[in-house]
Amino acid sequence: MTTNTIDLRSDTVTRPTAEMRRVIAGAEVGDEVLGDDPTVRRLEEKFAALLGKPAACFVPTGTMANQTAIRAHTEHGDEIICSDGAHIIHYETGAPAALSGCMIRTIANPRGLFDVADVTPLVRQDAYHFPHSRLLTIENTHNRGGGTVWPLAQIERVTAEARKHKLKLHLDGARLWNASIASGVAMKDYARHFDTVSCCFSKGLGAPIGSAVAGDADSILRVQRFKKMFGGMTRQVGLLAAAAIYAMDHHVPRLAEDHANAKRLAELIANIPGLSIALAPVETNIVYFDIAQDVPLTGQQLSDKLKSQGVLMLATGLRRIRCVTHLDVTAPMIERAAQTIEQCVTGRVAIGV
Ligand SMILES: Cc1ncc(COP(=O)(O)O)c(C=O)c1O
Repeated sequence: MTTNTIDLRSDTVTRPTAEMRRVIAGAEVGDEVLGDDPTVRRLEEKFAALLGKPAACFVPTGTMANQTAIRAHTEHGDEIICSDGAHIIHYETGAPAALSGCMIRTIANPRGLFDVADVTPLVRQDAYHFPHSRLLTIENTHNRGGGTVWPLAQIERVTAEARKHKLKLHLDGARLWNASIASGVAMKDYARHFDTVSCCFSKGLGAPIGSAVAGDADSILRVQRFKKMFGGMTRQVGLLAAAAIYAMDHHVPRLAEDHANAKRLAELIANIPGLSIALAPVETNIVYFDIAQDVPLTGQQLSDKLKSQGVLMLATGLRRIRCVTHLDVTAPMIERAAQTIEQCVTGRVAIGV
């Protein structure tokens, strides 16, 4: 990869800025397992306050955040309700089954949204031969849905229905920062409807590692216990908590630039013959587009051609490509990326070059 490469594969590819590296180097640290890393404690307090929750737990990854929360809320044999495109189903190596022994009932929707009428029929009756419906999870923004922002009123309806059935509620908010910036809804106004909320510092916010789960004291005590059990309790991890604090303080409002860049990219792609894209779903920093049947390229072939021209994007389906904007992508890079896509699709860059 050269310095001219435009990397739109994911918002996880960002590297710590010079200032973030300076803050990491100066972080006060202690032994996290012994409970005395002051920077981790500061981060957990700050994150809990932002989400309006009594407690929080710093964890290494978004996957561990989701899986410790799922384990905290469920017992083996329980059932989870979520969208059929949820990250916890597709990209967490079957962990709800492997680590929590849970079954999952899914709701089909290309954008990752669902409503009360979808949830109610999935809740099991209380009879000894059924699994217990125990937990409902929502993903906001929804990754596979295209960075979808859940409308707050819809969250209120769905979570109220879930509560009626005594379900626990977890929000996979890996990109809740993006949802909040796009909608103007405060993080805590989303969070108040859930028992636990996980967010990542290592995606749009640009920290190298780290996520956190916020919730009530009992849930977070269990999250901490399972973090230790899953091997996620570390030692002088204040170095990383410092990066997360820096990211929360400096990199949240700028997510609006990523959203503007994603919209611009989508508009440019819409004008390229041979590609199709729905513009309305591009609400945050994720853009999906499809290659028409009459274009002699699969998603992987287009991605390979783009790579040969210094533009990285992910083929996520046979004829589908995903691009994600982030901290290291500027508006001029978006113009160049779109030109390169056009050249590759219209054949001005030969296959195999
Ligand atoms: C919605 C969502 N949740 C959870 C995760 C997991 O994060 P990590 O890769 O840090 O495990 C991701 C990662 O992309 C994600 O998009």
